[in-house]
Amino acid sequence: MKKIHKGVILAGGMGTRLKPLTRVTNKHLLPVGEKPMIFYSIETLVEAGIEELLIVLGGESVGDFVKLLGSGDEFGLNILYYVYQSKADGIAGAIKLAERFVGQNSFVVMLGDNIVNKTIKPYVDKFAQSPDRARILLKEVEEPERFGVAEILNGKINKIIEKPKEFISNLAVTGIYMYPPDVFDVIRKLTPSARGEFEVTDINNAYLSKRRLDYDIFDGLWTDAGTFPSLRRATEAVWDTEKKS
Ligand code: G1P
Repeated sequence: MKKIHKGVILAGGMGTRLKPLTRVTNKHLLPVGEKPMIFYSIETLVEAGIEELLIVLGGESVGDFVKLLGSGDEFGLNILYYVYQSKADGIAGAIKLAERFVGQNSFVVMLGDNIVNKTIKPYVDKFAQSPDRARILLKEVEEPERFGVAEILNGKINKIIEKPKEFISNLAVTGIYMYPPDVFDVIRKLTPSARGEFEVTDINNAYLSKRRLDYDIFDGLWTDAGTFPSLRRATEAVWDTEKKS
């Protein structure tokens, strides 16, 4: 089994939906429970076996990330790199900046505002068994129209739609993605969406059309934290987990 040791966290974006909290700082530095938001995605990846991490920064207060995270030693990382996303060109645009860091390795991507209360290691281990295929994690949600959503037919993904206006399923595509290194060739072929961004959903649909996309349904609690209701959910989730342990 190939070991998956590289990870990328995306911590760009303007945090618009959390204004005024994000007027003078970055969304990923805001508190969730007892820690800054970005700590949770780092800890999730390290626990899943990631040793080398690239954080894609953007928006405000980027110097504060270096001050906060330094060399990554505290988290048990061997290597911590940073890169700055100067254009607001979406999740796929941010992943593209990881090309030199990733090289010929398969790797895990996690959105810095996603929070889970359970290990993702079993899924990363499955990915390690077929690292030439892409893998996504799905989770049932109450407001699928806020997310990328997967429709499953006969146990297989039939299609993925970004922010569907009409109901197709309640399975959101979480911000935890596993890709082989040819994802950069896929990204180069993308065209911007109506909101002017390179969409991660288009990456996933490209793998789907080549029959190279696998999925799992995540068996823990998953939430993003980029809106006030979801930030509150994330805070409650980590309080509950921290109290139990
Ligand atoms: C992004 C992705 C979406 C995914 C979500 C997970 O949405 O575009 O497919 O379901 O992250 O957090 P955004 O947060 O940019 O609205």
